[in-house]
Amino acid sequence: MLVTGKEILQKAHEEGYAVGAFNTSNLEMTRAVIEAAEEEKSPVIIQTSQSAITYAGSTEIAMIVRLLAEEASVPVALHLDHGTDWDVVMKCLRDGWTSVMFDGSKYEFDKNIEITKQVISIAHPMGVSVEAELGKIGGVEDHVKVDAKDATMTDPNEAVEFVEKTGVDYLAIAIGTAHGVYKGDPELDFDRLKDIKARLNMPIVLHGASGVPEEDIKKAVSLGVNKINIDTDLRQAFKKAMHKVVKEQPDVYDPRKMLAPTSDAIKEVVKTKIRMFGSNNRA
Ligand code: G3H
Ligand code: 13P
Ligand code: ZN
Repeated sequence: MLVTGKEILQKAHEEGYAVGAFNTSNLEMTRAVIEAAEEEKSPVIIQTSQSAITYAGSTEIAMIVRLLAEEASVPVALHLDHGTDWDVVMKCLRDGWTSVMFDGSKYEFDKNIEITKQVISIAHPMGVSVEAELGKIGGVEDHVKVDAKDATMTDPNEAVEFVEKTGVDYLAIAIGTAHGVYKGDPELDFDRLKDIKARLNMPIVLHGASGVPEEDIKKAVSLGVNKINIDTDLRQAFKKAMHKVVKEQPDVYDPRKMLAPTSDAIKEVVKTKIRMFGSNNRA
């Protein structure tokens, strides 16, 4: 069933687990994620970046995810990941996303509050939940590269003021993760997470979670992270499976036969993450 992000994440916050938010840009990835969630009896969030929307088409990808979500036996939300462009955010609201992220992390604190508030004033009456970001997460996202030295951790005092002033439904915080492939193991600031969660009685979002060791993920979940974004791990599983087909079955040229193993690989990664995040058997 298709639901809002808040419906999924408020329950996760109250019951103390995290839900995976997996990036998609086509039919095969979407189906793989939903099938994995159904097999694990888990709620799930399917998210599209702005560049995924440019790639697939806004109406097209919305129709694919919404249809598969409506047919699913578990709760599924369709979320806009890192919405930095006002027009794209508005289009997603019109096209049926049930959750949007307005990412104003490139703005000064007050400007981030101002635009986030404007987005919420439009999204909430439409029944759409809103995520915002405070602090700057490192790595590469949507053609924007944030160098490690420019990534800034979320200030707990600012987080309280931000949430009070905006009324955002869930907050993405920067505690040391980064988008893309890690060079070494990331160092997460768990004390900061604990402090922020203690002051904010609401769902917390962790970006850049691919490649983060399992014990760190589990600790982050135990300290109050409720939405965990995974993209790179799916892309790498896709590539590995595709490479294997090309290498081991050079005569295969039917795209369906080439794509089936990539979907299986993505499905396995999603199932593993679901169990790691503790959202299995929660639907
Ligand atoms: O956080 C960003 C996601 O990994 C999306 O990346 O803009 O290449 O689709 P993308
Ligand atoms: P990774 O690509 O590092 O998994 O990050 C995903 C993400 O944060 C999407 O918003
Ligand atoms: Zn992200």
